[in-house]
Amino acid sequence: MSALSEHVLEEIRELPAKYPQPRSAVMPALDLAQEEVGYLTPDAMSEVAAALKLDPGYVEGVATFYTLFHLQPVGKHRFYVCTNLSCMLRGANDIVEHVKGAIGVHEPGELSKDGLFSYEEVECLGACEYAPVMRLDHRYEKDLTANKVDALIAQRRSPATPSAVEPRHPPPLVKRAATTSPQSGEVKRKRTKKSV
Ligand code: FES
Repeated sequence: MSALSEHVLEEIRELPAKYPQPRSAVMPALDLAQEEVGYLTPDAMSEVAAALKLDPGYVEGVATFYTLFHLQPVGKHRFYVCTNLSCMLRGANDIVEHVKGAIGVHEPGELSKDGLFSYEEVECLGACEYAPVMRLDHRYEKDLTANKVDALIAQRRSPATPSAVEPRHPPPLVKRAATTSPQSGEVKRKRTKKSV
């Protein structure tokens, strides 16, 4: 059975025509696959490679290079909290600690017990004037406070809450530690912070 729906595979097949270099389609394609499955399984990555007519090793190299791609199950709602300079000076570290306590996890990528939440610390999201900032469900949440974080979590725990998906912002580009680029194949999966 296919990991990705025919609808998503069709979208992925159409991506290369939108880029001067067809290989550039790999990141949006992986984003679509992750959106559908929740994280990038080996089968999902193989299907992306086949749909783009790319070497599976290259696709896996890209997926393992960037922390925005998840190779293990992550929360349905993921907090990407900016801890770069402007946000840090305006309390980002306190926001991170508050998120961790509120969803009951201890480290980045850890899944909350209810399976709904996880968090990551990321590089500058380009919205420094609204620091501290995070991205949650494709939205930027600005001028964060502990109360605002609590409200966002409560909204997502309520089944009556419509999912907040617009406007969609691109995923934050944070990297895993790597000894080589994804283009050269061999990469190291250990996660660090990060550069855009
Ligand atoms: S430093 Fe956080 S958005 Fe720029």
